[in-house]
Amino acid sequence: MVSVHRRGSAGSVGDTDRRDAPVFAPGPDGLAHLELILSGAYPFPGFMTREEAESVSRSGRLPDGRPWPVPVTLEVPEALAGERTLTLTDLEGAPLASLAVREHWADGGTHHLAGDVTMLRPATYGVLRELRATPAQVRAQSGLGGVEGRSLLAVVTDRPLHHRALHQIRAEADALARGGERVEVLVVVDAPLEEEGLAPAVLAAEPLLPPRSSFVVLTLPRSASRAAGAVGGVWNERDTALAAHVAASYGATHMLAEAGGSGPETERVMALRPPLTVLDPEPWRYDPIETLWMPFTHVDPRRALAEPADAEVESELAHGRDLPAWFTPARVGAELARLRPARTERGITLLFTGLSGSGKSTIARGVCDGIRRAGRSVTLLDGDVVRRMLSKGLTFSRQDRELNIRRIGYVASEITRHGGVAVCAPIAPYEAGRAEVRAMVEEFGDFFLVHVATPLEVCESRDRKGLYAQARTGAIPEFTGISDPYETPTDADLVVDTVDADPAESVAAVMHALRAGGWIPAPDRHMSED
Ligand code: ADX
Repeated sequence: MVSVHRRGSAGSVGDTDRRDAPVFAPGPDGLAHLELILSGAYPFPGFMTREEAESVSRSGRLPDGRPWPVPVTLEVPEALAGERTLTLTDLEGAPLASLAVREHWADGGTHHLAGDVTMLRPATYGVLRELRATPAQVRAQSGLGGVEGRSLLAVVTDRPLHHRALHQIRAEADALARGGERVEVLVVVDAPLEEEGLAPAVLAAEPLLPPRSSFVVLTLPRSASRAAGAVGGVWNERDTALAAHVAASYGATHMLAEAGGSGPETERVMALRPPLTVLDPEPWRYDPIETLWMPFTHVDPRRALAEPADAEVESELAHGRDLPAWFTPARVGAELARLRPARTERGITLLFTGLSGSGKSTIARGVCDGIRRAGRSVTLLDGDVVRRMLSKGLTFSRQDRELNIRRIGYVASEITRHGGVAVCAPIAPYEAGRAEVRAMVEEFGDFFLVHVATPLEVCESRDRKGLYAQARTGAIPEFTGISDPYETPTDADLVVDTVDADPAESVAAVMHALRAGGWIPAPDRHMSED
């Protein structure tokens, strides 16, 4: 996660000039904190000392009594613990800021450096950089920031805004306006720093927001509670309170949290004394008779529809199904479909692993036929064939087997990258090698592991190629299952064997899984598949 190196050191010993300062790329959280410090979203100029961090953890307040919900700390490798100045960079090594170290402190085995940071160069990395405005820029633009008679409603979100959220935002803005205030809306998009994520789908809702709405993109640090979850993870009250402090720095007077799944109770957030009002709207439901979204108390519970969960939305998109119009506006749905193409359009690698003679090749060939008939192009990388072509000359030493699987993984990942289907059927006896293929492939698409679990006794008794007999006499050394290990996978997506089922049944089981997962079209659209 963290990387450290020293730049060409022309400076003399003890020189703390930043040109000679060691360079350090903080991890994702350190970087998120750094950006918020530099942008002025935090009301302090650097990373916290032990006393500050402990005070905040314990009481939700800085030592001087100001409420603050989360420790803002910089974790560094032990090797940097003694430094007095550090150049902080982005992940590509471009300098962002200089840290003047005030204190080094350790917490268990984790080392931290505290001190003020000074900007060296504005950040250029990350997606949607042009929307990552500072609080000062936004305040200048909106003319807000504590102006009497005006409200700025911040909607902090890490997920797309669907009809329910959009209706709620309009209702909250209207309610504020009824108090005689002039209301603006600022959608604060909490987006990952390094990947596109779903932020473009959030932006797609722009025309559906109240007039005088604008967007700002930033990255909130992932606290322990959020890291545990999927998409944005679930927020606790401290995460939400931090979002409130950041929103307030942009001039917000009110906040609606659309982030962090169901989120914490508003009372617990307010107990941390955030510098604005955190709104606490009732849950809303869709009434299919009235065709309206309304507070749940207005909808007959027998017909009230709740918004589908994130996982359900992901699954619908994976299967290439349109999201229902009652749930999402067309333009948001279209953007989501672009960001999360259907699995029939995503590349996938199927890796069949199992002993020699387990039936991998036979099943893999049958699966390739099925995939072709379903209308997708497919490449088969069979173990024996690869050994004659791509890996000619390699032995069966551990090292050569690893090289063999790496070559297969590379070709498969390229096929996957271009939206194709790669079916690989090597023995792939080692966990590490299979994990490497998974990682290579998942960079571009999906990975599906099939363990052909035919037991050794069965493979040996069949001994179609006569190899097991030779392995027993020692004529073939390092033979998988006899004189070389086979590490049984614990992460298979599907386990088949050829003892209780004939190959055709195993082929059908794989095809069923591919169809159920959405990688090939459902049979009603392709009746001829099997
Ligand atoms: S792997 O271990 O590198 O994944 P791969 O699938 O390419 O193996 O090749 C396995 C095939 O090579 C077997 O089906 C068998 O026909 C042949 N073979 C020859 N020697 C060995 C051996 N020592 N261990 C396993 N398979 C062998």
